[in-house]
Amino acid sequence: MCGIVGYFGKRPARDFLLEGLKRLEYRGYDSAGMAVLQNHKSKLAVTKSVGKVVNLENKLKQNFNGFLGIAHTRWATHGKPSEKNAHPHTDCGGNVAVVHNGIIENYRELKEMLKKRGHKFRSETDTEVIAHLLEEEMSVSGGKNISFEEAFVKTLKQLNGTYGVVAISSKNPDMMLAARLSSPLVLGIGLGEIFVASDVSAMVGDVKRVVYLDDKEIAIIKKDGYVVKTLSNRKQEKEEHTLEWDKAAAERGGYPHFMLKEIFEQPKSFADALRGRLLIKEGRARLGGLQAVEKRLRNINRIIIVSCGTSYHSGLVGEYMLEEYAGIPTEVEMASEFRYRKPLLDKKTAVLAISQSGETADTLAAIREAKEKGALTLGIVNVVGSTIARETDAGVYCHAGPEIAVASTKAFTSQLAILALLALYLGRQRELSFVMGERIARELNRIPEYMEKILARAKDIKKLAKKYAKQKHYMYLGRKYNFPNALEGALKIKEIAYVPAQGYPTGEMKHGPIALIDQSVMSVIIALKDSVYEKNLSGIEEILARGGKVLAVATEGDSVIAKKATDIIFIPKTLEMLSSLLAIIPLQLFAYFVAVERGCDIDKPKNLAKSVTVE
Ligand code: G6P
Repeated sequence: MCGIVGYFGKRPARDFLLEGLKRLEYRGYDSAGMAVLQNHKSKLAVTKSVGKVVNLENKLKQNFNGFLGIAHTRWATHGKPSEKNAHPHTDCGGNVAVVHNGIIENYRELKEMLKKRGHKFRSETDTEVIAHLLEEEMSVSGGKNISFEEAFVKTLKQLNGTYGVVAISSKNPDMMLAARLSSPLVLGIGLGEIFVASDVSAMVGDVKRVVYLDDKEIAIIKKDGYVVKTLSNRKQEKEEHTLEWDKAAAERGGYPHFMLKEIFEQPKSFADALRGRLLIKEGRARLGGLQAVEKRLRNINRIIIVSCGTSYHSGLVGEYMLEEYAGIPTEVEMASEFRYRKPLLDKKTAVLAISQSGETADTLAAIREAKEKGALTLGIVNVVGSTIARETDAGVYCHAGPEIAVASTKAFTSQLAILALLALYLGRQRELSFVMGERIARELNRIPEYMEKILARAKDIKKLAKKYAKQKHYMYLGRKYNFPNALEGALKIKEIAYVPAQGYPTGEMKHGPIALIDQSVMSVIIALKDSVYEKNLSGIEEILARGGKVLAVATEGDSVIAKKATDIIFIPKTLEMLSSLLAIIPLQLFAYFVAVERGCDIDKPKNLAKSVTVE
């Protein structure tokens, strides 16, 4: 979704702002813009362009030479993608510039009121009202001049909806103001310079210390320091977090796309998720982030997982793991549905949010709802210090490093790593035996090695992708632990290669989807040597009998499937509960190579955003 960056310091603002916007490109956007307070002139220079950040870069003129500035990548909500509608938006006098993420719900009323007072609007956006309100407050308020900060607070108090907003004013060249309500903003603290962004990835490599704003807080940012206050003017003591990601992690490092880099990073990101948490000899897991709620966890008798997209799919695998090994009844619900249900929760229910970004609006709302109802809230989150990580009672970080490609890959397997650890942790608190615990722990430790083996076969998967590049319709199938992988495999090929694909549990085929099967449909079926092997085999027979093609993901050495399937990808054998961790990798690679063959913009697929911070 939209991206915000701001800079105030000793370097030319334009350099960081452009760099920051480029780092946020992966989030998806349709236009971009920048406003910089020009040195010695006390005037704002504003430039906008439609399309990629490079278009903006080409348009920027020499007058963008100040040390204070804001910039934005916009994802159209109110008004089509155009220069006029791109941010920053300015007031009538051109003295105030604002960038904004979120939605101002009462913008129509505000716009009417401002128009009556003589304000001239240039865009169709909701955001522009913020610039005019600031102008109005600064010039009119009771006939007396009020400060930029006061005007900012008065403006914010009139807004209904959500915002991450940053404002600068040519009349106040010594400050930048930022505020948040349900749309993330983070400050980066450097030496004699302060950054602000909607996503830490914009500042990776530039800062080591970051401060996350909370809802209804404003930051008054000066060149060499900052103060955070509530809207009711109470000073807040903010914790500074250390940003552990380095610049290399946020760069492509020789790979043609972030997605491929992230697929290949999985043996490492998986090992990082386990680091220090797996006690093999004791057959258990140590999860520091859950220590504070350890006693409460012993008493929970139900888990509800809430999440969206790929994180929803990892939750579905988690359901199998937690029920089978921890013995706790578990449900998984799409966060967007959960938030509008009447969930029946009590003190013995734990609601577990899974989120790569930790900022997904629906997942956050679900967690808030669960908290309100008295449930214990937990998080499995990748981005340290993100809103979901802060708002849950306890949680476990994935430590997957920054995931830049819109299509999630390494975050998925890291989430599965944590879910397996959680099943082990909760299972050993209950009835899971030491022997079984130790087996799981040993096998978890071997997963990176198996992943490497699969990745070494990427060339074979590339050949298959070439063969099927023109395929128009896919059916992804799997059962039990690999049913969620069928959903995830189908999601990947939809997201980045734009090929219609459906994911189904193999057993559900006969209840409808089988009607679609003929020579034009390619079925990708995960049929491993596990407890549902025979069932998947029958599924393959049913498809072949109707003239369908089958690409099977099978266990190494399975000569039976090798004879039946049209094409086959082998993966190493592991415990059934961990098999999704391996079976997903060929599906990620297949979707990636099909998308390459089809000439798609893989890291920035159309219409999608990495982090969906609006409902
Ligand atoms: C968006 C992304 C998906 C992601 C989902 C949930 O739709 O495009 O890749 O799985 O959001 O995001 P989260 O950050 O909560 O895991």
